[in-house]
Amino acid sequence: MSAPIPICRTDQVPNRSAHGFLLDLDDRPLNLIVFRRDGDVRVFVNACPHVGTPLEIFPGRFMTRDGRHLLCSTHGARFRPEDGLCIAGPCKGKYLSALPCFNRDGTVWLSSGDAAI
Ligand code: FES
Repeated sequence: MSAPIPICRTDQVPNRSAHGFLLDLDDRPLNLIVFRRDGDVRVFVNACPHVGTPLEIFPGRFMTRDGRHLLCSTHGARFRPEDGLCIAGPCKGKYLSALPCFNRDGTVWLSSGDAAI
């Protein structure tokens, strides 16, 4: 099992919002979304289950206007930030790919490099 991998500082992700990060793991880029609600974090691969594009057309815009859901700007799919389930749009019922993660000592971590890929 690999050691945890730091993604970002926790305070880089606004509370009740999401931010994108690009990790370079063994020269393989991994495009991630980190969602934070208070001390709780979720990490998803930044690829829509509809056709695989990144969720944000506009840099840094991952949330619906009301701040309740993650949004794919390509065709408007909405996802629950708790688990990545698409609750509206062309991929309704599918999930964003969630990665094991945790928030500790002011840093968001991938739990294991092996599990992430
Ligand atoms: S690519 Fe995301 S809704 Fe179509």
